[in-house]
Amino acid sequence: MTSFKAGPLMGTVTVPGDKSISHRALILGAMAIGETKISGLLEGKDVLDTSKAIQEFGAEVINHGDGNWSVYGVGVGGFQEPRNVINCGNSGTGVRLLMGAIATHNFSATFTGDASLRKRPMARVTNPLSLFGAQAHGRYGGRLPMTIVGAKYPIPIRYKVPMPSAQVKSAILLAGLNTPGETIVIEQELTRDHTERMLSGFGAILNVEATGKGRVIQLKGYPELKPQKINVPSDPSSAAFPICASLITEGSNVLVPNIGLNPTRSGLFNTLRDMGADLTYENTRVNSGEPVADLRARFSPCMKGIEVPPERAASMIDEYPILSVVASFSEGQTLMRGVKELRVKESDRIDAMAKGLRENGIRVDEGDDWWVVHGKGMGNVPGGGLSNTCLDHRVAMSFLILGMGSKACVKIDDCSPIVTSFPLFETLMSKLGARLSRDRH
Ligand code: S3P
Repeated sequence: MTSFKAGPLMGTVTVPGDKSISHRALILGAMAIGETKISGLLEGKDVLDTSKAIQEFGAEVINHGDGNWSVYGVGVGGFQEPRNVINCGNSGTGVRLLMGAIATHNFSATFTGDASLRKRPMARVTNPLSLFGAQAHGRYGGRLPMTIVGAKYPIPIRYKVPMPSAQVKSAILLAGLNTPGETIVIEQELTRDHTERMLSGFGAILNVEATGKGRVIQLKGYPELKPQKINVPSDPSSAAFPICASLITEGSNVLVPNIGLNPTRSGLFNTLRDMGADLTYENTRVNSGEPVADLRARFSPCMKGIEVPPERAASMIDEYPILSVVASFSEGQTLMRGVKELRVKESDRIDAMAKGLRENGIRVDEGDDWWVVHGKGMGNVPGGGLSNTCLDHRVAMSFLILGMGSKACVKIDDCSPIVTSFPLFETLMSKLGARLSRDRH
């Protein structure tokens, strides 16, 4: 796909449902007894793969159309052994949360995924799951395909998560549901807390306390989860693309309604404002326990590079690729530190973005857990490069946005990964005024 310099982006764009919340709504719905009704579910490939998986584990799922879904759950402890291998496609969240959810059931399940997911580390999840009594048999280095042999008599654990990861935290909490006694997870840095919020909503007994040693989450085992009505807000990580596109495209003024502004997710918006972006919140409110607002972004010709506070990293971890694009159009350097986790996402995102930005005339320096983008200022990004998307949806969309403000068009080698999180990206961005074209082979 090729992205050409765009005229002003104008109008209102509704981005799809939150990916993190969608996965959790399906999985917790499957662990409740009765019908959970979900509206606004993200119908991207990652979430559809999770919906297939929970059906393999025994839940019934009905798609009523238009993002309205029902899940008929089997209750905590009610999952059954799947008849087939569970293929989670591209989704780290799907596979890690599902492994946690089944690890304290007395059966085995084998998980796999696409070439990107098969490269990603699973030991971070299987280490704590083994403390519950589950076994994991995977490839060298804890890679998929992997069989989890669930614990017959699970033991509750107390576990300090060694890296900032909501997926690891969530896998442990889900495993703790079908475990007697109290499971305790400690996270040193606050990561997205959708699992905790949703567990409380479903009626689990959960205590969260911020202490000097970190955030301590205590979960009581064997709760009876009650089915819920869940209205999934739009995904701030997807909203980031039209918002950042508007900031760098001359004359733009775009409204992106109903965006989840959970503080564990909204770091990018604070960072953009710190850089001088014209980004405002309208109609701030609370929806299904999550803060939401309508976001308005306008062309912002005078943004400046900053040092992004490392303590903000977890709240914008998926947004560094698109931030590096905005940084290219800003004056001066943008330094991003404390971001080692970016190296184990759908791709090594520092490497993928650095290589692709250099192809388009931007200087990038990098180390193991930091990188610096040397901004050229608005209107001065050369473009003209071909970027590799490395099976990574966010890398693919970021380079297409780069092309909207660059002097020469920007080409990506593969736009197919975009369906994992934002299936209508091309249609919706084109409606706003973007100029995207598909190269036919
Ligand atoms: C997610 C957690 C984050 C994030 C991912 C979604 C989640 O991953 O990058 O896109 O829904 O829990 P980590 O847990 O690896 O940080």
